[in-house]
Amino acid sequence: MPTQPIDPTTTSAWQALTEHHAALTPDLRGWFAADAARAQRLSLPLADLHVDLSKNLVTDETLALLVQLAEQVGLTDRLQAMLRGEHINVTEDRAVLHTALRRPAGASPALVVDGQDVDGDVQAELAKVAAFADKVRSGEWTGVTGERVKTVVNIGIGGSDLGPVMAYEALKPYVLEGLEVRFVSNIDPTDLAQKVEGLDPTTTLFIVASKTFGTLETLTNARLARTWLWEQLAAAGAIADTDEARTAAVAQHFVAVSTALDKVAAFGIDPANAFGFWDWVGGRYSVDSAIGTSLAIAIGPDGFRDFLAGFHAVDEHVATTPFAQNVPVLMGLLNIWYVNFLGAHTHAVLPYAQSLHRFAAYLQQLTMESNGKSVRWDGTPVTTDTGEVFWGEPGTNGQHAFYQLIHQGTRLIPADFIAVANPAHPLKDGETDVHALFLANFFAQTKALAFGKTADEVRAEGTAEEIVPARVFSGNRPTTSILASSLTPSVLGQLIALYEHITFVQGVVWGIDSFDQWGVELGKKLAMEIAPAVEGDAAALDAQDPSTRALIAKYLELRG
Ligand code: F6P
Repeated sequence: MPTQPIDPTTTSAWQALTEHHAALTPDLRGWFAADAARAQRLSLPLADLHVDLSKNLVTDETLALLVQLAEQVGLTDRLQAMLRGEHINVTEDRAVLHTALRRPAGASPALVVDGQDVDGDVQAELAKVAAFADKVRSGEWTGVTGERVKTVVNIGIGGSDLGPVMAYEALKPYVLEGLEVRFVSNIDPTDLAQKVEGLDPTTTLFIVASKTFGTLETLTNARLARTWLWEQLAAAGAIADTDEARTAAVAQHFVAVSTALDKVAAFGIDPANAFGFWDWVGGRYSVDSAIGTSLAIAIGPDGFRDFLAGFHAVDEHVATTPFAQNVPVLMGLLNIWYVNFLGAHTHAVLPYAQSLHRFAAYLQQLTMESNGKSVRWDGTPVTTDTGEVFWGEPGTNGQHAFYQLIHQGTRLIPADFIAVANPAHPLKDGETDVHALFLANFFAQTKALAFGKTADEVRAEGTAEEIVPARVFSGNRPTTSILASSLTPSVLGQLIALYEHITFVQGVVWGIDSFDQWGVELGKKLAMEIAPAVEGDAAALDAQDPSTRALIAKYLELRG
């Protein structure tokens, strides 16, 4: 592995892109008019996804230069280094092997990293998760009164929450009837209180999901949940008021997912009821590890394997497809184009699928915890802007909220539109296929953003001259359209893996370690230092800066 990242701004491709950008006037109307094959040429398959890049602000030359940039910053080597298990997470001295989580059983050659039989370990843990999921689903696993599990409550935060909840919401049609999964993440006690409301403790199973098993929010919520369980079971007469009964209740109503099995045991969860993974799986890359146990229970082991197969199909595509047809590589490079050459600060992800309503929230951690960095992996400052803000909401809701700014604001906001052709609920409004009407909005929005509406077109509608400027749409607002047949577990895995690799590509170009997250540490540490002050400790309060001290004093006054 090289000891230094390659500075992208020193490459000849960067220089050429700078000159190309200076000479380029984006003109989607003109480009499509002059080139009948543009839509077809710039639409590419990615496993079961159809990805149309043609409404991006690029010419063939732009794409060719971006591909050169990828080559010149050593993307191929870096990708291979990741897949081989080299310690590309430099600041934590770790391999980055989430791609190993979805390698099929018996993949060849076997992956052995740092002396670990990675494939063997992954398959063994997957089998353990699958067997447990089967037991819960069949009713073989019961609570203390012998009742089968009806509600699974996943307690976790960040990567131990966002992936599972997003995937559960997306794959609701695949969830076993009679089973519900709820997700508790926030240390705001309202979250736990609301999520256990109405639950029968005898049919509730808690999964404490935490890579480190040291996260304040998760351990606090796990303790609150344990207390709730004991109190509720005792109130229902289901357990005696003894330590033995409480220990037995935890054994049957709590399992854990973690890389720190010693801490799981210290919490009182039998390590036999814990599912492991490894330090080479980043939290935000872990939904396809045992962190997805709640999902595996909900959709079943076969569905979960299908989910993993979707990821793997995209891994294969990335590893084997020339950059010029490599969808995640091209989408990562397009993001570089927008951030570093066209000055975009944000990127919208707009699913036209209500089931994907947590997808943007999931992507926020994936992309922003990965690439929100100011130093490169060798500790030197980055040489250009990094990490754009990812955000979004499902259409058409967003249309009635923030699309105004995307259409007519002064900011360039590249947007990914995602839809499936066959919804889980194909309802009709009289003769109207409502989902078709929904997707008409998808196509209308991407068309309006690309091609806009000229002043002459506005005038031709009879608009009063003084209102014409307000009704003009500039167009040339870039979008990528992603279509699939339906939102199966595999397709969801493909979508997630797509964005994982996009994130990786951007990180490689910028020369940053996309797999650490030191930026979350300072706030965590300060919260522990400040906690005594908010509990009323005068010395701790005095130790704060004037603003923080005044705020805490105000809080104490308001709390009364
Ligand atoms: O605070 C950020 C973070 O470390 C994320 O990277 C991680 O996904 C989350 O906290 C939860 O961590 P854990 O799974 O160890 O509880």
